[in-house]
Amino acid sequence: MNAENLAKAQELIQRFPQKSSALIPILHLVEEEFGYIPQEEVGVVADVMGVTSAYVESVLSFYTLFHRQPTGKYLIQVCRGLSCQLMGADELSKFLYEDLGVERNGTTEDGMFTVEAVECVALCKNAPAVQINLEFYPNMTKEKLQGFLDKAREEVRSGA
Ligand code: FES
Repeated sequence: MNAENLAKAQELIQRFPQKSSALIPILHLVEEEFGYIPQEEVGVVADVMGVTSAYVESVLSFYTLFHRQPTGKYLIQVCRGLSCQLMGADELSKFLYEDLGVERNGTTEDGMFTVEAVECVALCKNAPAVQINLEFYPNMTKEKLQGFLDKAREEVRSGA
């Protein structure tokens, strides 16, 4: 963690009556800083919290929202909840896997896109729902996804 986040982590620990309650917010700080939770940061977090690395690992293995590997520049998360499945989420995933040449939770070789299937993102009324870099996209279609992929590729090509 950088110095700023270390200071934030100390501040978070002070906020909770039980020190261990700060673990998840601190892991979010690490994920924000690195884009995932690098193995060496597990020890750093454990030291800051005063717990063992095994304890931090146990929390990380329970909460699938944390990434243990770097993700692509664009993290595309397709909801696989029931409402979204009924409204065609599987078709969206299939489209992405084929277009990008990746499997579920895979990242393209150029490191641009990661595609994940995630649990309900609470947009059931506007299913199927997708999150891209944690922004919500309700009522998603293959056409809209294609438009997003084209735009993202163009931005990278033009250096934007
Ligand atoms: S099931 Fe997809 S948003 Fe709830």
